[in-house]
Amino acid sequence: MNTYPNKVELVEVGPRDGFQSIKEFIPTELKKEIIDRLVDAGCTTVQVTSFVHPKAIPQMQDAREVAQYVLEKYPGLRAYALVPNLRGAQNAYEAGLREISYVISVSPGHNMANVRRTLDESFAELGTILSTYPDMKVVLDAATTFGCPFDGEATLQQVMDYVQRAYDLGIRDIDLCDTIGVAAPVQVERTVLALREKFPDVTFGVHIHDTRNMGMACSLVAMQCGLTRVSTTVGGLGGCPFAPGASGNTASEDFVYMAQKMGIDTGVDFEKLLDTAKYLREKVPGNYSGHQINIQKPQCTMG
Ligand code: COA
Ligand code: ZN
Repeated sequence: MNTYPNKVELVEVGPRDGFQSIKEFIPTELKKEIIDRLVDAGCTTVQVTSFVHPKAIPQMQDAREVAQYVLEKYPGLRAYALVPNLRGAQNAYEAGLREISYVISVSPGHNMANVRRTLDESFAELGTILSTYPDMKVVLDAATTFGCPFDGEATLQQVMDYVQRAYDLGIRDIDLCDTIGVAAPVQVERTVLALREKFPDVTFGVHIHDTRNMGMACSLVAMQCGLTRVSTTVGGLGGCPFAPGASGNTASEDFVYMAQKMGIDTGVDFEKLLDTAKYLREKVPGNYSGHQINIQKPQCTMG
């Protein structure tokens, strides 16, 4: 019989992974409003933006303003930003953030397309970030863990070696990202079980794109394997601009619904989250994988 955790940390990555997939600039005030709604719905961990080169992703040019708004308004929120390099970490630190996710792809092809670095260069820069900012918590985003548009599927050994390199640098928090949504549940199971056995003191999470509707199944299997952190985006909005074929993410509201029905606590209010997803869809046309249906509670007419 499978067991599930009683509680899962939902990491809402919509304001970063969702918004970065939209070409047209989303007004900063609307970004703030969506974050306000997510916090109001009960989200306690939010990836609020990314500190990347504004030419690479113009959508994120207001990263500093968004980060400072969130830090000032929600001091208790676990707010963090994605960074691709030392300069990004420096900008995040100067904006006041003390937590980042640093992205390195498992596959060299995607790492080069995404951050224009070899894996050696990216890991070396991670070492520099850790020594330069010892008070900054760093989660490693292991992009393309389950497959890459350029290099295909990584072997389990490649994934293990990648995690070993991060581990040797002191990283104890890693999100396994299915950047283009190609994983199937058994692959997630095999990967998570092997990693947890070899690295019992590392906290792993999953971040699954929903290209073929595998997001929920893969997230479920990850929880069966003992993971208690799942990244999703409101509405299922998302996609990496540097990964051809990348689609929307697992939708936060769909995941929260499933968790709620299974007695797994996320702390998030499903109805409020669904309303936020609908509101976002109205305001920002894009690539959404979530389900919008709002089933009305049955009305009792029998008196
Ligand atoms: N934020 C702002 N400016 C940055 C920056 C950052 N994070 N990183 C580098 N720069 C600036 C440098 O200061 C330098 O400026 P200058 O020419 O005025 O001196 C210039 O960009 C070139 O620096 P370099 O380190 O050579 O960067 P690059 O051109 O190789 O670009 C990245 C590399 C990583 C910065 C860029 O590819 C990037 O931002 N990618 C985003 C990836 C992403 O967000 N993917 C989706 C999420 S996984
Ligand atoms: Zn993603």
